[in-house]
This record gives sequence, C-alpha cells and structure tokens, in this order.
Amino acid sequence: QELQMNLEQIEKGGYDHFMLKEIYEQPDAIKDTFRGRMLVDQGLIKMAGIDDHIDKFLNARRILIVACGTSWHAGLVAEYIFEELARVPVEVEYASEFRYRNPVIYEDDILVAISQSGETADTMAAIKLAKENGAFVFGVCNVVGSSISRLSDAGAYTHAGPEIGVASTKAFTTQITVLTLIALQLAKKKGKISTSDFHTYLAELETIPAKVEKALQSNDHILQIANIYKNAQNCLYLGRGFNFPVALEGALKLKEISYIHAEGYPAAEMKHGPIALIDEQMPVVVIATKKGHYEKVVSNIQEIKSRSGKIIGIVTEGDKDVKNMADHVIEVPETIEFMTPLLTTIPLQLLSYHIAVLLDKNVDQPRNLAKSVTVE
Ligand code: AGP
Repeated sequence: QELQMNLEQIEKGGYDHFMLKEIYEQPDAIKDTFRGRMLVDQGLIKMAGIDDHIDKFLNARRILIVACGTSWHAGLVAEYIFEELARVPVEVEYASEFRYRNPVIYEDDILVAISQSGETADTMAAIKLAKENGAFVFGVCNVVGSSISRLSDAGAYTHAGPEIGVASTKAFTTQITVLTLIALQLAKKKGKISTSDFHTYLAELETIPAKVEKALQSNDHILQIANIYKNAQNCLYLGRGFNFPVALEGALKLKEISYIHAEGYPAAEMKHGPIALIDEQMPVVVIATKKGHYEKVVSNIQEIKSRSGKIIGIVTEGDKDVKNMADHVIEVPETIEFMTPLLTTIPLQLLSYHIAVLLDKNVDQPRNLAKSVTVE
C-alpha cells in the first residue's frame, strides 16, 4: 500500500492530482506537438499526414469533423480557424449524432476524427460510416496505435504524452495546436494567406508555450476566486467567436469534476432567454479578450451587471474596461485572435480544478465517468 502510494506520487510528478500535472504540462506538450512539424526559421510546416494527401485536402468539397466531449469542443475551434484561414467549409458534429442520423456524405468529403484515447465507440462508428461512403478519414489522436489511428486513412498524433486525468486538458490544447497547423498549411497551399502572414503566424505560434506558462501564473489568484464561488449551484460561461467553444469547454470541465451545473453559451445569446437566469447567486465567466468582438462582449457584461450577476472576466493582459466592471478578472497574454483559445482555456481548467479540490471531489476519477467511452 505504501509502495503503491509512493509510485502514484512519483507518477504525479509531485502534483496532488494527475489533472493538475497535465494542466502544467501544456507548455511542453504544445512544444512536442510542434516538434518536427513547425519549422519557423524555414517558414515551413511539414506534416506527412497532410502533405502526402494534399490534393485531397485542396480539392475537398468540405471538411466534416466528428468527435465527442472536449474533443468536439476542439473541433468547434477548428471550424472557426479553418473557415477563417483556409476558407474551406467545415461542419462539426457530435459523433454519436452523426452515426445515426443517416447523414449526407460525399466521396470528396474529408472526415477529421478527433479523439484523445483513439478508442471512443461513437467516433469509431462515425469513421466507419464515412469510409463506407467513400470519404477520406484523417485522425487526430493522442494514443499511438489506437483503434481510431489505425482506422484512419492518414492522421497526426498530438504527442501530448499520456493523459491520465479523466478531465481532458492538455489533449484539448494540443488538438487545437495540430488543427491550427493543418489550417495554416491548407491556407498557405490554397493561397488564402500571404507568405508574410504565414511567417507571422508561425512566429506567434512559437510564443504560445511561453504565453501558456504566463497564464498558469494566475493559479493563486484563481484559487482565491474558486474559494468564493465553490458553493455556486449553477454557473454560466460566455464567449464569442473563437472563444465560444472555449466557453463550452470551461462549462464541461466544471460539470465533470465539481458536479456543479454549468452551461456555455455564445455571449450574444444571453438576451434570447438565458439572461432570465441571472441573479446574484449566478457566477458568469465571460471570455472577453481583446479583438474578438470585444465591444460587444463588454455590452453583454453590462447587461449581466445590471441584473446583479457576478462576473469573472477572462481578459487580455492590461485590460482596463472589463477590469472596471467585473467582480474578478483573470489575465492572459495578448496573442493573435485565432490563437486565444490556447490561452483562455488555461484559467478555466484551473478554476474548475480548484473548485473541485475545495469541494473534496475525486478530481482524477470523477463519479460515473471513464477516461475513454469505449461503449455506446
Ligand atoms: C472531457 O474532459 C471528457 N473526459 C470527455 O468529454 C472526453 O473528451 C470524450 O469522452 C472524448 O474522448 P476522446 O477524446 O478520447 O475520444
């Protein structure tokens, strides 16, 4: 028993939980995702899984993305990035819905399947359905040699290293990293972005691990906020644009490890109903980083304040406007708009982690959850 305990401590690298270790591994995990693929000095991206099938990608009618849970949130971020940069139509579907609704699938479709474990039953079934209809399947997995990676026609591993905590963290940010590299490669090959912009984006991407490191430094501040809101019964997460999927992901993290009911929403959707929920008991996490429709998010915050909602703002370093309105702000470094999800996710991971620990929940193995849902 003693030896087992010590072994676990060694495996956790001194962290109290695997989840916390994996949150802090993200700067290195993202670097490992880049390694050998992003050659900033040469201004190149090299990804065999894409480059060897580049014609399929360039001639694809559309890109379908299927996944579950956090991986589905990464797919949503990818939709916004692919369409913004590569101007290719993208549709993101829950694998469990896609596999049963008799979807229209074309031979010149590309299906991107995102799965950390590479063993999720619904995602596997969606892949089989797409292959039956002649689509090309590209897998984004973290586990080398997993079923989905073997089922795919091509793919790219996230190289995040083993993710033990049931709540996915570094898998999410490395999935977004892989998908961003693919979107940039396609955008360049399709001539949708200039060479100089391409170089600018690569140079900025290279700074992301250090910016994630910086975002992690808010940990103690986030612990204080977690202490204030740990007994909330409900919580809302709001975001726009590239950060709308991050709002969904933040809500999922809180739900699955603290068991507090939480919902993610596009910020502008508040006035179509959810604002009726707002009262002084309802903490609202608003992702309000610069550029992404910032002014509109600020007005959403004003609407919530006027209904005595409590605001936790995720803002760009140095932000003044939201700081003057919100009850709390958590800063992340400035970056190019489409890369903000890699940073805004960090405080949301830490917030849910600390609330769950303060509530004495089993953070690494939450009740009723499995690390990989290999059954329907
Ligand atoms: C996320 O924190 C959950 N563990 C869960 O939603 C997970 O993302 C989902 O089950 C998909 O798993 P996969 O990426 O291994 O396919």
